[in-house]
Amino acid sequence: MNASVVYYTKSGNTKKIADAIGVEVGTQAGTIDNALTQPVDLLFLGASVYKFGIDKAVLTFIDTLTPAMVGKVAIFSTSAMSDSGYPILCKALAAKGIPVVDQHFYCKGKFAFANKNRPNEEDVQNAKTFAKSAMMA
Ligand SMILES: Cc1cc2nc3c(=O)[nH]c(=O)nc-3n(C[C@H](O)[C@H](O)[C@H](O)COP(=O)(O)O)c2cc1C
Repeated sequence: MNASVVYYTKSGNTKKIADAIGVEVGTQAGTIDNALTQPVDLLFLGASVYKFGIDKAVLTFIDTLTPAMVGKVAIFSTSAMSDSGYPILCKALAAKGIPVVDQHFYCKGKFAFANKNRPNEEDVQNAKTFAKSAMMA
C-alpha cells in the first residue's frame, strides 16, 4: 500500500502532526498546494477548524480528488476548542465518492493563549499510532 500525507495549516499545528505521520509512513508530508501526481492507496489529509468550519482551500482541494486517484482517506485535525473537522471533511469526501477510514486523529492545537505547547509530544506519538493503525485498516 502506498500513502501520501497532505495538510493545510495557518499556524503550524497541523503541519506538526502531518510531519509525524509522514515519518511513520515513510513519506514527506506536503501542503495541499502540491497536487497529487500519481494514484495513492491511502491519503492522510490534515485540516483544522477555523471559524467553526474548514478553510475553503481544503474543500477546493478535495474537489480535485477522484476515486481513481485516491483509494481512501484518513483524516487528522486540530482545533482550539470545538470539535474536529472530521464530519465536514467526511461529507465533502463522500460527495466525491471517496471512502474515509473510520478512525481519525484529533488533538487540541495552540491558539492565542489557549492550549500552550499543543500539539505536544504525546499528541505526536498518538498521531503516529493512528497512522500505523490506518495503514493496517
Ligand atoms: C482564524 C482562526 C479561526 C479559528 N477558529 C476556530 C474555531 O472556530 N474553533 C476552534 O476550536 N478553533 C479555532 N481556531 C483555532 C485553530 O483551530 C487551532 O489553533 C488549530 O490548531 C490551528 O491549526 P493550524 O496551526 O494547523 O492552522 C481558529 C484559529 C484561527 C487562526
